[in-house]
Amino acid sequence: MEITHIPAGSRGAADIDEILAEVIDFDALINRASGLGSDFDPLPAEVRGQLLDPGEYTTTETWIARRGGTIVAKGIAWLSLRDNLDVAEIWCAVDPRHRRRGLGSRLLEHMEDSLRDRGRTRLTSFCDIPPSARDAEPRGGHIAADSGSGSLPTDLPEVSFLTSHGFAFKQLERCSVAQTGTAASMIAGELAPGYSIETWHGPTPSDRRKQIALLHQRMSTDAPGSAEFGTEEAWDAARVRALDEQRAAKGERMHTALALRGESAAGFTEIAHFDDRPEIGWQGATLVAADHRGHGLGAALKIANHRSLTESSGVERVYTWNAVENRWMLAINDRAGFATWAWVGLWTKSLHWERLARLDRML
Ligand SMILES: CC(C)(COP(=O)(O)OP(=O)(O)OC[C@H]1O[C@@H](n2cnc3c(N)ncnc32)[C@H](O)[C@@H]1OP(=O)(O)O)[C@@H](O)C(=O)NCCC(=O)NCCS
Repeated sequence: MEITHIPAGSRGAADIDEILAEVIDFDALINRASGLGSDFDPLPAEVRGQLLDPGEYTTTETWIARRGGTIVAKGIAWLSLRDNLDVAEIWCAVDPRHRRRGLGSRLLEHMEDSLRDRGRTRLTSFCDIPPSARDAEPRGGHIAADSGSGSLPTDLPEVSFLTSHGFAFKQLERCSVAQTGTAASMIAGELAPGYSIETWHGPTPSDRRKQIALLHQRMSTDAPGSAEFGTEEAWDAARVRALDEQRAAKGERMHTALALRGESAAGFTEIAHFDDRPEIGWQGATLVAADHRGHGLGAALKIANHRSLTESSGVERVYTWNAVENRWMLAINDRAGFATWAWVGLWTKSLHWERLARLDRML
């Protein structure tokens, strides 16, 4: 198996366009085998961006593994460039016709070597499990999440693979889906005195970048279990602007609702949709800052954003992800008509000691 490493921006557009259709076909094959459904098929502009466009604040690296010239496996790493410099979020997948022959292990080890050598020793990863796979044999062995909530069957290929490669199962998330109209038709209560909600679509208005930056930064520490997956991110207005530009370049459109108390940021929620598949919405961050909780802002933000979506986009349904211990957010989503679509296991692995041992051997 030959493995080619492609950090975003390391090849010219002509080189990338030559392999793009093949990479997208591979991603579609993997998605169809996962049971997640066609809504999760690859978005061509996003895949192209992952291969071609390095971001200023975050970037991606791709590994493509071939046998006899054909792609048989692919890995990807999402990297932050300004904070969390020791962290890498990784994922790899093998063509179902070539599984259980050690290819996944070889690719993962190759990716780990590359990342460890550059000091990226805190790995995070994930696996997507449809409810039918999780519920197939409830009497079989399960592994419990370290968070204390939720479990996954140990004999699922992804679970077994990650466990056998030293990953620890940290958290279970529920991926759920709702029709936009359902959430939008919920009755919003009166906002608590002093609060207001603004909605917009497209890039963040320049006079709101500061508030959105603060909320993104809080999101990196205040979401349940966030300490397991990285440290506080550094956000300012320039980073919000750069993120908006990066999103526009790959045809990602945002709908945002921002809660304010006077000019202070109290909370926000974001939903993305892509030009390549405009009927599907993807819930992004939602946060109510700690000192503004208990006023019903979470539900009010979601209702406002879903209304804005129905008024000014073609989005028909929205997918969202929540930690299963995040009962407050799950309750809001249940009220908004979200139903379980998949379970997502979040995993971590430390390469720290391996790196020290390796450096020691080199001295
Ligand atoms: C997970 C995945 C990458 C494994 O690829 P693979 O090439 O089949 O993996 P390997 O052959 O290297 O298997 C390594 C170990 O994983 C475990 N494993 C992999 N598939 C398994 C299965 N179907 N049943 C039980 N254990 C399995 C075993 O411990 C295996 O070692 P063994 O064969 O010596 O018993 C592949 O199933 C896949 O692409 N899944 C979808 C993508 C995904 O969820 N990735 C996980 C996050 S990185």
